[in-house]
Amino acid sequence: MPPLAALLIGYLLGSIPFGVILTRVAGAGDLRQIGSGNIGATNVLRTGRKGLAAATLLLDLLKGWAAVVIATALLPDNEQLAAAGAFIGHCYPLWLRFKGGKGVATLMGIVLALHSPLGMVYALVWLGLLATLRISSVAGMAAAASAPVGAAVLGRFDLVPLLMALALIVVWKHRENIGRLLDGEEPQVGAKRG
Ligand code: G3P
Repeated sequence: MPPLAALLIGYLLGSIPFGVILTRVAGAGDLRQIGSGNIGATNVLRTGRKGLAAATLLLDLLKGWAAVVIATALLPDNEQLAAAGAFIGHCYPLWLRFKGGKGVATLMGIVLALHSPLGMVYALVWLGLLATLRISSVAGMAAAASAPVGAAVLGRFDLVPLLMALALIVVWKHRENIGRLLDGEEPQVGAKRG
């Protein structure tokens, strides 16, 4: 199989919009019309359905993890392409006219699959900030930024360019959140409005 197959497999997996699907199936409406309009777990939580939010978080994480694991098995040496495909698929899904999520959970799954100690660092930064500040966007951007830095510290320099590019996309996708943070209007996790 050509390397581009890894990118395509990753994209197809990553572009499954679990938040939108679960919310719709549960009869909780169109997630894109709720709160921040984002398709991730934080916004699913704004529907008041904690179980749905947890399932969205887990499935968004798992699709990133699965893309890398599948590529490693089928297309050795192409796992970074699969990782990039999954991330781009989540953030820019064809099925939602390229208006996708912000990448935090999917990137966590990708990093866990690429290098599990680095994935643990990512998860700890995310969970630690979420528990203390209770602002999802800050926790997500900080966790994403920790990935290229952590890769360099752990000697995985081969991962630094990809993780740096993906972290920059995470920050770009949070530009509205950054505006709200600067205005002091970013809601804490669990607040109804985004
Ligand atoms: O992972 C998304 C989160 O960082 C922000 O979500 O809905 O508050 O924009 P939201």
